[in-house]
Amino acid sequence: MTRALRLGVNIDHVATVRNARGGAYPDPVRAAALAAEAGADGITAHLREDRRHITDDDIARLSDTLTIPLNLEMAATEEMLAIALRHRPHAACIVPEKREERTTEGGIDAAGQFERLCPMVAALREAGTRVSLFIEPDARQIDAALRLGAPVVELHTGLYCELDGARRADELRRLADAAALAAKNGIEVHAGHGLTYDNVAPIAAIPQVVELNIGHFLIGEAIFVGLADSIARMRAAMDAAR
Ligand code: PXP
Repeated sequence: MTRALRLGVNIDHVATVRNARGGAYPDPVRAAALAAEAGADGITAHLREDRRHITDDDIARLSDTLTIPLNLEMAATEEMLAIALRHRPHAACIVPEKREERTTEGGIDAAGQFERLCPMVAALREAGTRVSLFIEPDARQIDAALRLGAPVVELHTGLYCELDGARRADELRRLADAAALAAKNGIEVHAGHGLTYDNVAPIAAIPQVVELNIGHFLIGEAIFVGLADSIARMRAAMDAAR
């Protein structure tokens, strides 16, 4: 049976706009409250090492005020681990991070970084945080996630979104196969990156995927139709595909 599909709204780029002027407006925490009212099932925020958008204070305020689960995206560093352990968010998604990149490029190499990730996953789990690993749709990475004891993987949909035609269809097949493999092994499957109204349906239709995390497009679209409407329309596109 196909399970319900949750929408996690990533509010990073509300902070990008705020930080363009260095003040307090627009406030991503206000956007998070509005997203919750508009039907978001969770809020995702990436505290990057260079603090280019979300700040430590944003994470503290989100932790204090959110009425829906917070998913903290974090690099696998001691600094981020300490912050996560201080706030104990509902979920933490471990992502690769390069300072010079514009956005998260590719998934984390869970297989290659096994020794480094092992104590982090264990510490987060012990704190009661649901750990997810942002990975490429690849059997080797799912095997590593399983050995690490990560209860969740988030499949990187960036390449699928960039490609078209037969190459997109191939990438979609890889995503569907990876989702089936992870779920068969008891790992919960999320997906995200680059999703829009136009490309979300085939991903939402993968039966094992139970959560999509979407940010840039929803915040951009909010300029034209408002955040509540952009979320409602994405929700409808996801539900129609299910
Ligand atoms: N999931 C993860 C793990 C991400 O790093 C990001 C980007 O911050 C997203 C989802 C959302 O991607 P987008 O902003 O392209 O919707």
